[in-house]
Order: sequence, then structure tokens, then C-alpha cells
Amino acid sequence: MSNSSPSLPDSWHDLRAAARAVREAAYAPYSQFHVGAALLTSRGKIFRGCNVENASYGGTICAERMAVGAAIAAGERDIAAICISLTGTPVPCGICRQFLYEFNPDMLVLLDDLNDGAPAEPECLRLSDLLPRGFRLDP
Ligand code: THU
Repeated sequence: MSNSSPSLPDSWHDLRAAARAVREAAYAPYSQFHVGAALLTSRGKIFRGCNVENASYGGTICAERMAVGAAIAAGERDIAAICISLTGTPVPCGICRQFLYEFNPDMLVLLDDLNDGAPAEPECLRLSDLLPRGFRLDP
């Protein structure tokens, strides 16, 4: 666990804009809770995801996992940062923390709260601080 908050990545404006834009596409008829996520690879590419709910409820996919899937499908696995945009408390759920941990425990997690009165810049944390002692296999 690190003691100080990491700095925002240089391209955080672009990352946040992408997360906010893709949030508009969220399919959340059951919860009405719209989430957008945009991740940045070490090569500077951005991949996006939104939550997609399902009548079965358990089949729902979170925005973060969809963004990871888009990156992996494009052959990009080196994830440096992810920005999550939503109204309220923009922290990734436990399943998404574990899912992200697979690809880089040290990735930066930018928390973009869209509520009025929220800080102008996203909070920036390390994934390893959100998921201490996360589970990994050594394939
Ligand atoms: N959700 C996400 O997309 N990411 C999270 O980290 C938390 C939850 C979605 C899933 C569901 O569609 C809605 O938010 C309410 O839980």
C-alpha cells in the first residue's frame, strides 16, 4: 500500500472525456445507474465501456469490464489507467477490482464524480490500494 496519492496521467482530460461520452450509451433500464469507463494503455490508446444490464440481473456487465474486454479484443493488455464516470461514489465494484488486477495491480484508477459540487479533477488512486493483496496466478 502506497502512502501518497499518485499524480493524474498527462492525458487525463482525454480519458475523462471518453468515459463521460461512453456513459451516454449505458444500457441501465433496471437500475437507472449509468456508468462510463475509459482505459488508457501504455501505448496511449483509449478503450471504452459502459454498463449493460440484463433482465436476468446477474448477466449485467459493468462498464469497467466492458472496457477491459474491448482492449483485450484489440490485442492491448498493458493497461496503465482507467477512468470511471458516474454520479455518486465512482469506485469500481469488487468484481471489477479483481478483473482489473489481472492486467496491472499498479494501474491508476481515476474516479470521476459527475455530481454537482464534486471536485474539478478526478481523484487518482492505485488499484493495489483499492484491492490490497489481490489474487493472481502466475501462468
Ligand atoms: N456498475 C458498473 O458499471 N461498475 C461498477 O463498478 C459498479 C456498478 C453498474 C452495474 C449496474 O448496471 C449498475 O452499475 C448498478 O449496480
